[in-house]
Amino acid sequence: MKLNIALLAGDGIGPEVIDQAVKVSDAIAKKFNHEISWHPALTGAAAIDAVGDPYPEETHEICANSDAVLFGAIGHPRFDNDPSAKVRPEQGLLKMRKKLGLFANVRPTFTFPSLIDKSPLKKERIEGTDLVFLRELTGGIYFGKKGRENGGDVAYDHCVYSREEVQRLAKKGFEMAMSRGKKLCCVDKANVLETSRLWRETVQDMEKDYPEVEVSYEFVDAVAMRLVQWPNSYDVLITENLFGDILTDEASVISGSMGLMPSASVGSEVSLFEPIHGSYPQAAGKNIANPLATVLSAAMMFETGFGLYEEGAAIRAVVNKSLSEGVVTEDLADGGKSYGTSEVGDWLAENI
Ligand code: IPM
Ligand code: MN
Repeated sequence: MKLNIALLAGDGIGPEVIDQAVKVSDAIAKKFNHEISWHPALTGAAAIDAVGDPYPEETHEICANSDAVLFGAIGHPRFDNDPSAKVRPEQGLLKMRKKLGLFANVRPTFTFPSLIDKSPLKKERIEGTDLVFLRELTGGIYFGKKGRENGGDVAYDHCVYSREEVQRLAKKGFEMAMSRGKKLCCVDKANVLETSRLWRETVQDMEKDYPEVEVSYEFVDAVAMRLVQWPNSYDVLITENLFGDILTDEASVISGSMGLMPSASVGSEVSLFEPIHGSYPQAAGKNIANPLATVLSAAMMFETGFGLYEEGAAIRAVVNKSLSEGVVTEDLADGGKSYGTSEVGDWLAENI
């Protein structure tokens, strides 16, 4: 298969972890006879510095014309501490999601048997956890009208959803539940928010089309609690943008390290694959960042992006091997022998 992949390394540790995913993908391409053309493009603070725009038109063209986008991370402390900054790296990510129509963010949480003791949660609570969040990604409070009034002393961010936006996300949730454990949890705050009542009503209307799926409706605050109490009771969870942002960070600790969890953002056209961690600027350039979340994002790219399941499975297998043999970065080394970001990447590629 000929694969054109847009490569957006972004900021902080982005370029380092992306390099390892490229090594691994190239090794897979060689083994399974595919031909990958990588198309690097600028995003985030790197793009602001180069052309003054965190998601330049040229980058958009490259992404829109590719078979998939592999993305590192976005964000720079220079902007975090400056609330008055007019252009921010994160705007690039939001613009990219909107312009590429990436309305569903698929964020799995699973445990690795060899890492079960790394989780801050008790082993018996998390064993067998295999859940996936479908976070709505192009609506809600992130994209509603925002502004200031009263000379700047009052600020607002509107949360808006249409029935159609909820339906298309929920449809993916029902389909995913059908292909997995047939359980769907609609996470909302329908006791308070009107948008949540629209979510609940819409999902309730769709239940009849998926009679095999057991649907539950839970308030977001209760889910925040249950997620760490009984994570293995969940299968597929659907939720709006901001709730999903918060809960997926929470869920990522279940696996033991945020450096492990991949994600996919899908819509009607091209899909994007990225680690759920951020740009981790403190570690940038030090060759210490864990590349596995990005490598596993590449596995998701082969599987859900290209339908190449054997290739994805080969990546997962080699990642599991690196974990059980202790070829890991310092976040997973428990003070023992650790490897650099690029050494882990080299090892994975060689072992493919
Ligand atoms: C994420 C990130 C982004 C978000 C930021 C960087 C804008 O936290 O992908 O979860 O809030 O969506
Ligand atoms: Mn987030």
